Amino acid sequence: MKKILNITLFCLILISACVKNVEPEIEDSTMDCTVVEAYYTDHVATILSSKCTGCHSGPTPAFGLDISTYSLVKTNLSKILDRVNRNSGDAELMPQGGPKLSVANLDTLYSFSKMECDE
Ligand code: HEC
Repeated sequence: MKKILNITLFCLILISACVKNVEPEIEDSTMDCTVVEAYYTDHVATILSSKCTGCHSGPTPAFGLDISTYSLVKTNLSKILDRVNRNSGDAELMPQGGPKLSVANLDTLYSFSKMECDE
């Protein structure tokens, strides 16, 4: 009787081990932060430094808004997206005085806004 119990126990452990293995890994929806930071450096910072940080950086940034670093851009991203997506001719469109950013550049900023990572 004891032997049967042991075998049953052994089988149960085996089965549970197998079941654990077939279970799909829970997808992690957040990314590695180094990937997001690299995207910022390679794509986002280049756009902002040619179109925005002439006014929005340094000791007296326009409207008190400095967007010259990764964390400053992350913090102000919703405002940035709002302003760059205004219609051409809108007085609040950024870059100030226009022209509106290219569709490719707007896509880059949008993609960046969708990237999340655990700091
Ligand atoms: C020629 C200087 C200049 C450039 C270039 C410029 N801005 Fe601005 N920006 C301003 C000024 C001045 C204001 C304040 C007036 C206003 O709100 O429109 C402002 C306001 C803003 C605001 C609103 C801030 C708030 O707290 O509400 C955002 C966001 C912004 N700019 C983002 C950008 C982005 C992104 C770019 C590049 C695509 C950019 N700006 C390019 C001068 C500039």
